Amino acid sequence: MLLQKFDSCQLWKLLLTQQTKKRQKALAKQSQIEAKRSERGAHGKTMGDVRGLIWQSCSKPFVSFLPVGLIIFTLLCFQLQAKDSITGWDITYREMCKKAASDPFYFQNFRALSDYAHALEVGGVKEYADYILKHGSPHVLSKMERFENLDELGSPPRSYIFPLGNFTGTTLRYILFADLIGKLFELPANPKIVEIGAGFGGQCYILSELYPFSKYYIFDLPEPEALIEKMMNALEVQNVICLPIDQRLPEEKIDLLISNYAFSECSREMQLDYFERVIKKADRGFMIYTQLSRRVYGMDTLTTEEFMQLLRENGMNPRIYDEPIKSDVDNHMIIWDRIF
Ligand SMILES: C[S@@+](CC[C@H](N)C(=O)[O-])C[C@H]1O[C@@H](n2cnc3c(N)ncnc32)[C@H](O)[C@@H]1O
Repeated sequence: MLLQKFDSCQLWKLLLTQQTKKRQKALAKQSQIEAKRSERGAHGKTMGDVRGLIWQSCSKPFVSFLPVGLIIFTLLCFQLQAKDSITGWDITYREMCKKAASDPFYFQNFRALSDYAHALEVGGVKEYADYILKHGSPHVLSKMERFENLDELGSPPRSYIFPLGNFTGTTLRYILFADLIGKLFELPANPKIVEIGAGFGGQCYILSELYPFSKYYIFDLPEPEALIEKMMNALEVQNVICLPIDQRLPEEKIDLLISNYAFSECSREMQLDYFERVIKKADRGFMIYTQLSRRVYGMDTLTTEEFMQLLRENGMNPRIYDEPIKSDVDNHMIIWDRIF
């Protein structure tokens, strides 16, 4: 019994000692954890952990988004090039102009190829034809056979429209605009004309048949200008002078300024430069003004009202109408002549 008592006492002592040791161990561990915690940052990480996390969070997305970043960077570079005009940074279009100007195969087919057609050609043959049949002046209607020559080059897809002939919508558009110019303005004999952004020279050819000019200056990019020169030679159009876009116009006064779907696609900076260098010298003007560069490409361009105000401030009386055949929702026809 006594032995039993002793044994249970010893046992208690032993158990107590063990418990105390365990507690001391636990307390030591606790104080270690406390010490580490105070070393850690706000989120419970050591400085090493934090540095690792920063590296991970920066490098991981950087590595995985590197290709995306490169694409964005390239697009931004294109955006910067796009500063001047939409077709200015359309490499496909410019390359095709270059090929068409230098390679007989491409010259024979450029208007049928989408790399070129997407920038220049319009549909709507029937609408343009109906308009010309309804409103065409006798002078214009008498020249339809001559106008057909334009679509003989570059193999564009044509439609036969009785009794006008075999035409593309693009050429009918040039005919319609040329007729409007004749009705709107009293041009002097052998006028001096300037066109900003002339495509392949289609408007120039149609005007040469209707109102023989003494000079027809064209401002366009180098590749389209090479193609225009080739077209003008093939069509035997005289007195056409292609100038680099930033060159001074070698005239103090011109009779007519034309720019369809071109001046309005240039940046504000370029528009103001053209206004000072070229447009101010014109006694009359005919323009199809688009909003594409502003609406779709987010470029900073003159609004129609800002452009009209500039014309007013420089002694013109601008008028604005809907585009005769609407090719985009917010296209307008702006015309003007000098009042003082
Ligand atoms: C949409 S096309 C219109 C062509 C033509 N006016 C027509 O009605 O078919 C735009 C034209 O502007 C030209 N262009 C682009 N940037 C230009 C610039 N900075 N100065 C002059 N022309 C430019 C293009 O090469 C092209 O000939």
